[in-house]
Amino acid sequence: MDWKKEYKNRLVTAQEAIKNIHDGDKVVMSFGCGEPRAIVRAMRENYKNYNNVEVINMLLLGETPWVDEEVQGHFKYNSFFASGTNRKAIASGVADFTSCYLSETPMVLREIIKPRVTVMSVTPPDEDGFVSLGTNCDYIETTLSHCEVKIGQVNKNVPYTYGVARKHVTEFDFFVECDEQLPEVPAPPLTDVEIQIGKNCASLINDGDCIQLGIGGIPNAICEELKHKKDLGLHSEMVGDGVVDLLESGVINNSKKNINQGKTILGFAFGTKKLFDFLNGNRDVEMTPMDYVNNPVVIAQHDNMVSVNSCLQVDLMGQVVSDTIGLNQFSGVGGQVDFVRGATMSKGGRSIMAMPSTAKGDTISKIVPKITDYSAVTTTRNDVNYVVTEYGIAQLKGKTMKERARALISIAHPNFRDELCEEFERRFNEKAF
Ligand code: COA
Repeated sequence: MDWKKEYKNRLVTAQEAIKNIHDGDKVVMSFGCGEPRAIVRAMRENYKNYNNVEVINMLLLGETPWVDEEVQGHFKYNSFFASGTNRKAIASGVADFTSCYLSETPMVLREIIKPRVTVMSVTPPDEDGFVSLGTNCDYIETTLSHCEVKIGQVNKNVPYTYGVARKHVTEFDFFVECDEQLPEVPAPPLTDVEIQIGKNCASLINDGDCIQLGIGGIPNAICEELKHKKDLGLHSEMVGDGVVDLLESGVINNSKKNINQGKTILGFAFGTKKLFDFLNGNRDVEMTPMDYVNNPVVIAQHDNMVSVNSCLQVDLMGQVVSDTIGLNQFSGVGGQVDFVRGATMSKGGRSIMAMPSTAKGDTISKIVPKITDYSAVTTTRNDVNYVVTEYGIAQLKGKTMKERARALISIAHPNFRDELCEEFERRFNEKAF
């Protein structure tokens, strides 16, 4: 087969490619650093040509055109993850939200939502006619095998990644060439609180452990504190720039992994050019879909698996709220529960929930007697194990309700400990300390 001919036959303009999207279609798109922005722009410009097209993805880092007032009725937006760019639209009902463990997103798309069209960013083809899905394998890789119409935006700035991300040009129906800078997620400077949380978390991570790092500011703080460890493994649905130095210096070398030994396994990359450059052409990193990297059974096959995620609130029983504030959808469950469960099942494994003890300039305690009304519990009290703040570590698994409450009060911000103790005394009819 002459792949160059096959590629050329599929090459169209963005305007031509989007003519294959029809009224009533469901269109799934790549997200974050893999946003296919040329196609997004073309769809937005031509919105009048569409009626009732549902666009599905995790989140967009730039504008989310599907929520503009002008396009309502033409497009509707269904997100797997709330963020600054779509939170207001979800709260007001303009956009909708699908709550879903990331490990299940490929299945949910394939068997329940069933989009007809998929759109993603890809690299130019290599000498054998294979493009790479670059920063995102996650849920988008799966859609190549079940969507009827497959469109790739070919962008030379997409890093060429390996693993399951490498796809032959014949797996696509249309290619649109458009080189542009990838959307980036720069890490904000670390706060003193994050640095202390990083130190506390790092004290729970041993040489030879395999780690997962979640979303938010804390993962980068932890990476800073892992510089003196050795032989770490990395099996994580996502990573930001923080891991690059650890990978380049060999602190993470994946040598002790029981499976995928020597390889870093990722679902998607969420960082800046520093991370993209590291990934480009790097065969030590394998991009995999969410039903692999986030599958608790796969995660559990690593001995000494340590998951680190963050949350918004923990109550005195250890119930963890990570993605809602009351009825407001703040983010999404993401891979949190997948990794908590996988790490718990791993021989020698540990799950860590790390958060600052307060929010909003120390006016709100994140350790609370009772979670905010209407908030959804993300990680149950039966799943949670280590909770970490800047004030220390509370180990909850196997602990009674009183022991849990005492452990959590002792890592709460001092300004809130008295009221938490009062609640303890009301609840258990004895002194907290
Ligand atoms: N009540 C009200 N506001 C709160 C709050 C609470 N209990 N806890 C945090 N906030 C506010 C903060 O003040 C901050 O507000 P600001 O933006 O106005 O400053 C905002 O929420 C974000 O808090 P921050 O601690 O900076 O969040 P983060 O970027 O570290 O992310 C989570 C924390 C919990 C939102 C994030 O880890 C998440 O979405 N987790 C669930 C998904 C997950 O774990 N996935 C795994 C990998 S994808």
